[in-house]
Amino acid sequence: MNSVGDTLRCSIPLLLVLTFVFQVEGRAAGRLHRTKRQEETDFKCPKADGLFADPETCRKFYICAGHYPFSQNCPSSLYFDDIKKFCTRKTKQLACGPVETPETEAPPTPDPHLPNECDPAACVLPDCFCSSDGTRIPGGLEPSETPQMILLSFDGAVNSLNFDHYRKLLNKSRTNPNGCPIKGTFFVSHEYTSHFHLQKFFADGHEVAVHSISNRSPEEWWAKASYEDYAEEMVGQREILHKFANISRESLLGMRVPYLHPGGNDMMSVAYDFDFAYDSSIIVPMSHTPVWPYTLDYRISHKCMQGTCPTKSFPGLWEIPLNTLFSEDGTGGMCSLADQCVFQENDDESVEQFLKDNFKRHYNVNRAPLGLYFHVNWFNDRNKTNVLLNFVDDIRTKHRDVWFVTMQELISWMRNPTKAANLNSFAPWACEKRENSCNIPKNCEVPLTMDGYTEMRYMQTCAKCPVKYPWVGNFEGSAEGYKIVDLARDAEPESDDSKKR
Ligand SMILES: *[C@@H]1O[C@H](CO)[C@@H](O)[C@H](O)[C@H]1NC(C)=O
Ligand SMILES: *[C@@H]1O[C@H](CO)[C@@H](O)[C@H](O)[C@H]1NC(C)=O
Ligand SMILES: *[C@@H]1O[C@H](CO)[C@@H](O)[C@H](O)[C@H]1NC(C)=O
Repeated sequence: MNSVGDTLRCSIPLLLVLTFVFQVEGRAAGRLHRTKRQEETDFKCPKADGLFADPETCRKFYICAGHYPFSQNCPSSLYFDDIKKFCTRKTKQLACGPVETPETEAPPTPDPHLPNECDPAACVLPDCFCSSDGTRIPGGLEPSETPQMILLSFDGAVNSLNFDHYRKLLNKSRTNPNGCPIKGTFFVSHEYTSHFHLQKFFADGHEVAVHSISNRSPEEWWAKASYEDYAEEMVGQREILHKFANISRESLLGMRVPYLHPGGNDMMSVAYDFDFAYDSSIIVPMSHTPVWPYTLDYRISHKCMQGTCPTKSFPGLWEIPLNTLFSEDGTGGMCSLADQCVFQENDDESVEQFLKDNFKRHYNVNRAPLGLYFHVNWFNDRNKTNVLLNFVDDIRTKHRDVWFVTMQELISWMRNPTKAANLNSFAPWACEKRENSCNIPKNCEVPLTMDGYTEMRYMQTCAKCPVKYPWVGNFEGSAEGYKIVDLARDAEPESDDSKKR
C-alpha cells in the first residue's frame, strides 16, 4: 500500500523552502507590510543567502538575504529541520539545531548564449508570444474583455484510491458558461497508475499529460538528469499512456517535471525534439501582477526561482508557468502547488480566503490564467475539499466570464485570443466526449525488476497485459525492452527524404 504515500511524497520539501525564499524576495522589494527591520540579533549568517537554524531553539530559524538575518517563527506546532530546511512536525528524524553542511559547488556562471529579450515586433501569434515583463494580455485585449481561465491540475498517479476524489470536483453538473462540464488536466506519473481509471477521465474530456514514469527521488535528480534520462522518463511515459490508456500521441502534448525541479536545457530539448506542445514546470516568483503563459523563443522575463530553467531558445514551445499563490495577509505562506501552502488545522475560513485572494489577484488585475494545482492530499482532507468545491461553485455562479479549461484549451485560446463575449461558440472549447475502451479492465500482475529486486506490480488496463511492468528503459513492458533513444536513433536514417528517393 505504498501508493498513496508515494503520491503524497511529491515535491513538498522544495516548495516549502521556496516559500521562505519568496518571503525574502518580497521583503527586498518592499512588497510585504513588514518592512520594519527586525530587532538587532547576534546571529551571523553563515552564507549570504539561505535558511539557517536558530542555535537557541528549533521553533525559529533565520532567512539570510545579502548577509542580513531575518528571524522567523515556524507555524505553531512545527519545528525547523536544518537538513530539509523547512518547518515540519516533530519526529525522530527531525534535524534540530545548526547542522554542518558540506560546501556546495559555485553558482553556475550566466550563460553567454542566452536568447535575446522579448521582441514583440518579431514575436507574433499564433506561434510566438512574449511581453517584456510577462504580464501582458495576448491579442491586445482589455482585462474586462478577457475570459478568466482557471487551470485545475492533478499531479501523480491516478487510481481507484483517488478517482472518486477527483470525480467529485469534476462532477459533470459543474459547467462552464457554454454548458459543457468543467475540465482539468492530469499530469500522470506511471507508477501505481490505473490506466482504466485514467482513461475514464480522458473519455470525459479532461486532458492527460506527462509527469514521468518513475517520479523518482531524490528530488534533485531531476535538476541534473540528462537528455537521455528525460527522453526515457517523459517520452517513455507518453508511450505508456498511449499503449495502455489508448490515448493518441497527438493528445499527449504536455509535461511537468516531478517536484518542480526542471532539468534546464536538457529537459526542454526533449520536450522540443519529441514534439511536446508545452511544459508547465517553471515557477514565477510572488508578484501582485501574475504572468501569462509564453513561448520559449526569447529569454524568460521573470526570475528563475528554481535555478535550473532553460537558458536556450525553444521556438514555439509554450511554457505555462506556475504563478506563486499566496493570501494577502500571508496566512498559509506561499506555494506553487495549492496543496503545499500550510494552514492551521481546521481553518476553513483561511483556506477560503486564500482561494478568493488568489482568484481576485488574477480576475481584477490582468486575468492571467489562475492555476489551481493539486496533489491528492488536498482531497484527503474533507474540510479543504469542501472549501474548494464551494469556492468553485461560488465563482462559477457569480461570473459568466470564468472558464475551467485544460492546458491545451488554454493554448488554443492564446493562439487565437477571443473575447469573453464570443466564447460560447469558440470551437476548441466545445464539449468533448470520447469513447471508453472497456467497462471491465484487465487486472495485470506483472514483475518489476529494479536494483536487482523483483516485485509484483498491479496495473489495470483495457489493453493486453504486458509481460513485465512497463518502466524506464522498457516502456512497452516487453520481455526484451526497448529504450526511447534506441528507437529514435533507429528512426533517424529513415527520414522522409530518403524514402522518397
Ligand atoms: C454529482 O452531482 C450530483 C448533483 O449534485 C450528485 O447527485 C452526484 O452524486 C455527483 N456525482 C459525483 C460523482 O460526485
Ligand atoms: C470542518 O468540517 C466540519 C464538517 O463540515 C465542520 O463541522 C467544522 O466546523 C470544520 N472545521 C472548521 C474549523 O471550519
Ligand atoms: C482506441 O481508441 C481508438 C480511437 O482513438 C478506437 O478507435 C479504438 O477502438 C480504441 N481501442 C480499443 C482497444 O478500445
